Amino acid sequence: MRVLTISKIKDGTVIDHIPAGKALEVLKILGIKSGSRERVSMAMNVESKKMGRKDIVKVEGKYIGEEELNRISLIAPNATINIIKDYEILRKFKVKMPKFVEGILRCPNNNCISNDSREPVTPKFEIVDGVARCIYCGGKIYEIEKYLI
Ligand code: CTP
Ligand code: ZN
Repeated sequence: MRVLTISKIKDGTVIDHIPAGKALEVLKILGIKSGSRERVSMAMNVESKKMGRKDIVKVEGKYIGEEELNRISLIAPNATINIIKDYEILRKFKVKMPKFVEGILRCPNNNCISNDSREPVTPKFEIVDGVARCIYCGGKIYEIEKYLI
């Protein structure tokens, strides 16, 4: 028997196949936090044929842009995006690792110019083989979820 954990949505964006326990980081990457007005439902640690356990995030009434969605690959490299219109799946695609990300990671090097509050510098990282490298100081991030802003 297949149990539906969270309801289908009429219109919006479904982020599926998130590694179990990472849904909150996905919300963080999308800028969804306490006080946000988006209608969001999510499920954590649900059964999945492919993954054993997985998380799902559904954002209703909003078609999230591809560039923003691709940032999710930093913590969920195999996430699937489903764009829903009138209950039907309009488009299904896998997230792609971006070459650069701006403004969502903090450099681990405290002496980096991107950590200097007196400088108007937005942190920017190059992504190479799943590792983020600061374009200013070369500092590397191996555990990306620890440095999400
Ligand atoms: N979904 C939804 N609202 C809809 C249609 C689909 O929330 N109106 C969600 C489903 O709950 C599921 C995801 O979108 O989490 C993908 O739906 P579907 O392709 O029908 O499921 P699967 O075949 O299991 O997906 P995949 O092949 O990508 O594993
Ligand atoms: Zn740096």
